[in-house]
Amino acid sequence: MSTGEDSGGDLPPGLNGASAVYGLLGHPVAHSLSPAMHNAAFRALGINAVYVPFPVAGLCSVEVRGFNLTVPHKTAIVPLLAELTPEASAIGAVNTVRNDPSHPGGRLAGTNTDGIGFLRSLEQDLGFDPREREVLLLGAGGAARAIAFALLEAGAARLVIANRTVERAQALAADCAKAHPGAAVEGRGMDGLSGLAPHLLVNSTTVGMGDGRSPVAELAPLGVREAVAEIVYHPLETPLMRQAQAAGLATTNGIGMLLHQGAAAFTFWTGREAPVDVMRAALLKAMGTRGH
Ligand code: ATR
Repeated sequence: MSTGEDSGGDLPPGLNGASAVYGLLGHPVAHSLSPAMHNAAFRALGINAVYVPFPVAGLCSVEVRGFNLTVPHKTAIVPLLAELTPEASAIGAVNTVRNDPSHPGGRLAGTNTDGIGFLRSLEQDLGFDPREREVLLLGAGGAARAIAFALLEAGAARLVIANRTVERAQALAADCAKAHPGAAVEGRGMDGLSGLAPHLLVNSTTVGMGDGRSPVAELAPLGVREAVAEIVYHPLETPLMRQAQAAGLATTNGIGMLLHQGAAAFTFWTGREAPVDVMRAALLKAMGTRGH
């Protein structure tokens, strides 16, 4: 279904020896949608730059102006950075790095845009503001970590983190409570969630990613009041989203979070407002679809 990732989308015209290089570090990176999104944004603003997927971890000898990181590099990079934003430092993971080449040998600053990307998607795709709201978050991995911290930062009144491996949910809840003393946050297993009646249900597990499954056998007992947010974007509509729609709830997939984390990364690198509409169109084109 996905097309265009391997070419990295349309390259900016006039790419030359002065072009600034940005990229994505990870393994595997060949199917990333980020090159299409960022290259479209550079072109839209006439910025002489290119975004490249790097399937290796060695960037020491290349003057790269900025890059994204995927698993497993998000935490491993932290000790190598000269500067961390408060978001990245709270989460302990970095998805975006900026290199200041005016320093001899470069100087790396890291941030994490996953949380802000998630919040902007909630706002723009669902019109949902977490302030004073109760949220049930499924999953306790890297994505859940960024989402949990962002929800508490945004003023959520209560956060229940439910995960197959209950110890991971409890460990994440403890980290959240440390960063937000007094916050109502707890970690649980996936059973016994009936009657929680959260305003928002978030799926940050990988269940639903092309496996035709939902992380919850039955949605009704949870009593979700307003909306369901998926971080999965392949497929664009997951079994959980269909369950939610049948129950009359608002839904969104993970495209918005992917888009807005990318937009925030773009701004972190360039200091420019990101051309979000251009980036969204490039993302959807790269996924071989015209809308969702
Ligand atoms: P990411 O960084 O994308 O969040 P991750 O750290 O590997 O990825 O986390 C994957 C999440 O999906 C975890 O919460 C994982 O649950 P466990 O901590 O118990 O492994 C969850 N997950 C993956 N496969 C699952 C499955 N088949 N059933 C339930 N949860 C699953």
